[in-house]
Amino acid sequence: MKAVAVFPAKRKVQLVEHPEPPMSSPTDVKLRMLEIGVCGTDREIVTFQYGSPPPGAEYLVIGHESLGEAVEVGSSVTRVKPGDLVVPMVRRPCSDPTCAPCRAARQDFCTTGEFTERGIRGAHGFMTELVVDDERYMNVVPATLRDFGVLTEPLTIAEKAIAEVWKVQQRLPWTRPAGTGQPPGRGQRAVVLGAGPVGLLGAMVLVNAGFETTVYSRASGPHDKSGLVRSFGAKYVAAEAYTTKQLAEQVGNIDLVYEATGASPVAFEMLEVLGTNGVFVFTGVPGRKGPVEVDTDLIMRNLVLKNQLVLGTVNADRDAYRGAIRHLATFASRWPQALGRLITSRTPLDEAPALVAGQPTGIKSVVVLE
Ligand code: BGC
Ligand code: ZN
Repeated sequence: MKAVAVFPAKRKVQLVEHPEPPMSSPTDVKLRMLEIGVCGTDREIVTFQYGSPPPGAEYLVIGHESLGEAVEVGSSVTRVKPGDLVVPMVRRPCSDPTCAPCRAARQDFCTTGEFTERGIRGAHGFMTELVVDDERYMNVVPATLRDFGVLTEPLTIAEKAIAEVWKVQQRLPWTRPAGTGQPPGRGQRAVVLGAGPVGLLGAMVLVNAGFETTVYSRASGPHDKSGLVRSFGAKYVAAEAYTTKQLAEQVGNIDLVYEATGASPVAFEMLEVLGTNGVFVFTGVPGRKGPVEVDTDLIMRNLVLKNQLVLGTVNADRDAYRGAIRHLATFASRWPQALGRLITSRTPLDEAPALVAGQPTGIKSVVVLE
């Protein structure tokens, strides 16, 4: 079958003929892949800055954001049936018996660093025709979400982040008074840094949770991000026109920053204006460039005197996938047009090597297999 693979030693990305995966356990599910999303991580992998093939393999089949259709299920499979739309999870646990998170199915918190990630690190990914995996890594998506299901994986980033925010902000019980029936973020202000797919999906989660949400971003490309952002109820502030300080003056006390750019200098500038009792969530994985100057005294004073928290998060657990699928259904009914506008191109598999190796355009590029 066809697959898109990166050969780190040859420094090539190309279409390959890849063996069909066998069904090897009664809990296995076989998926026919429908759509594969492309993100910054893929672009890092195909420029050989990140990722690794399975041990002993010459190449890595890329692709981790995906939507497939179950075509065969093992005899012990209970949650998936043929014909179901499925989004497989990315990260797989390490095998160390002493890794408590992996043994508790929370490989997103793996402590040994020996986890694998399909399409990224040590395991083949999903940019291919057929995929087999255990049903425990499969998440069924309602058929009504056929057009948006491929956004599940990038949305899990925000899902896990907000789940963590609710946990750590239990330290502020007055912000979520019980029994009011109000959305949990009501009365709080969030800033999203970046208007790529991760930022926009994160902003939708925050608006939906009741936060007064502002997206702060540099315009890139011909896409009118500001109109898109406003269409689902967030504000847009252009980073070219306003400094982070001016942004903070407009917003008021910033209770939450959701960083989704991977650009560390502007992120640390944002950290300087985080509000009292605020949380700053980092989700980006910047490439290592030179050191930059940061006002550490200011940041440290603020962290202490304003009870601030800085949180990094890598996705994702099963609950985050479930949350993402539920949210996609909500967004599809609240903001169908905005959700549709997140996917800006659909490219056939044969043209995928050029797509992933080329300059990113639009918001979310998707590779289709039909
Ligand atoms: C993926 C995650 C993965 C992370 C780090 C992201 O692009 O969406 O699943 O954990 O990269 O490899
Ligand atoms: Zn990704």
